[in-house]
Parts: sequence; C-alpha cells; structure tokens
Amino acid sequence: MGCAISGLAAKAEFGERNTEDAAAAAHPSEGQIQMIKDSWKVIRDDIAKVGIIMFVRLFETHPECKDVFFLFRDVEDLERLRTSRELRAHGLRVMSFIEKSVARLDHLDRLEALALELGKSHYHYNAPPKYYSYVGAEFICAVQPILKERWTAELEEAWKTMFQYVTSLMRQGYHEESTRQRHLTLTPKDRPEKRNTAL
Ligand code: HEM
Repeated sequence: MGCAISGLAAKAEFGERNTEDAAAAAHPSEGQIQMIKDSWKVIRDDIAKVGIIMFVRLFETHPECKDVFFLFRDVEDLERLRTSRELRAHGLRVMSFIEKSVARLDHLDRLEALALELGKSHYHYNAPPKYYSYVGAEFICAVQPILKERWTAELEEAWKTMFQYVTSLMRQGYHEESTRQRHLTLTPKDRPEKRNTAL
C-alpha cells in the first residue's frame, strides 16, 4: 500500500495547519487549474474505483477515521470493504464533490460556498478538521497509478493546493457551525451580547 507521494514532495506538507493560517490557504493558480482539469478528464473514468481505494487506504492508515463512520466502524476486515456497496456509494458521493469542486475552480466564490457548507455538515457528522488533510493525501496516492506517466511533481502540487484550499474552507465551515451550535445551546443569560446590554 505504499505510495510515491513521499518521493515527490514531503508528506508533511499535507499536514494539519492551525485554524488561523488554514483560513488563508491559497487557491490554485490558473496554470494549476488547467492541469487539474486535464487530469480530471482521465480520473473521471475511474471515479468509483478511486473512491473505494481512497477510503480503504484512509481506514488502513488512520483507523480512527473509520470510527467516525456509523456504517463502517464495526467492520474489522478492510478487504471486505473493497466490495461493499455502501463504501462504493460513499466514495462516489465524495468523488462527485471533487468533480463539482473542479468544475467551480473558475468560480471560486461558488466553490467557497460549497466547501463551507460541507464543513458545516461535517460538524454534524462528528468528523473534525484534523482528519481532512488525510483525504487529499489518499486521493493523490489513489490517482497516481491511473495517470501513470502523466503524473508529475507539478500536477501533484496542483492537486495538493486544491485540497488544501478546499479543506481550509471546510475547516472554517466546521468552526462556524461549532460556534453557532455552542451559541444556540447557551442560555440567554450566558450569551455575551445579553450580558453587555444588561450593563
Ligand atoms: C477532503 C475531505 C473530505 C471531503 C471532500 C468529504 C466529502 C464528503 C461528502 C461529499 C459527503 C456526502 C454528504 C454531504 O455532502 O454532506 C461526506 C459525508 C461524510 N463524511 Fe466526509 N469528506 C471529507 C473528509 C472526511 C473525513 C476525514 C471523515 C472522517 C474522519 C469524514 C466523515 C464523513 C461522514 C461520517 C459522512 C456521512 C456519511 C453518511 O452518513 O453517509 N469525511 N463527506
């Protein structure tokens, strides 16, 4: 299950950023957008396969992520997941999000709205931001063998930039939703603005 990602660029680059600088993650450049779109045309033919490989790898390398999934947390034998209809369906949902993201690279305001919403829904799935960067790393490992000699260090950098951009927005959405929920559960007398008006 090795992956050449570490040979092309340090895996640490995919690591968790803190919340402050995460909000400022750069979007892909025009050249990178074109590279991502061209490679997506090839990846698209194998999206079901990529979705499954990506999640099986994610659960192998980070078993703590499997525990977040109600459907998969009790599955001990990860090989069984390769033929699971549920994992196939879930993988396809995630790949379809990536497809939408690629399509919106020319309309970053629309991509931003989509990724913020996804981060908010992940708050409700109990999937915290510290895990998001793993998905991009596993996506890269899963698509390399499909793109074969078309895979280059520049293309890897382009996909990394896109994932860092999207996951920083997801993280922002997650934190916004967590703040909103905390606010909702506070009693009126505990809310800061109520305390201020009472002064
Ligand atoms: C780049 C990172 C990720 C992307 C793009 C992504 C995308 C998605 C998408 C598109 C869905 C379908 C539902 C929806 O649209 O709200 C979903 C559901 C879900 N995701 Fe993620 N996800 C990411 C990372 C993670 C991680 C790391 C975890 C767990 C640690 C996770 C846990 C879940 C769970 C539990 C669901 C709901 C599953 C269900 O009930 O069917 N996600 N995700």
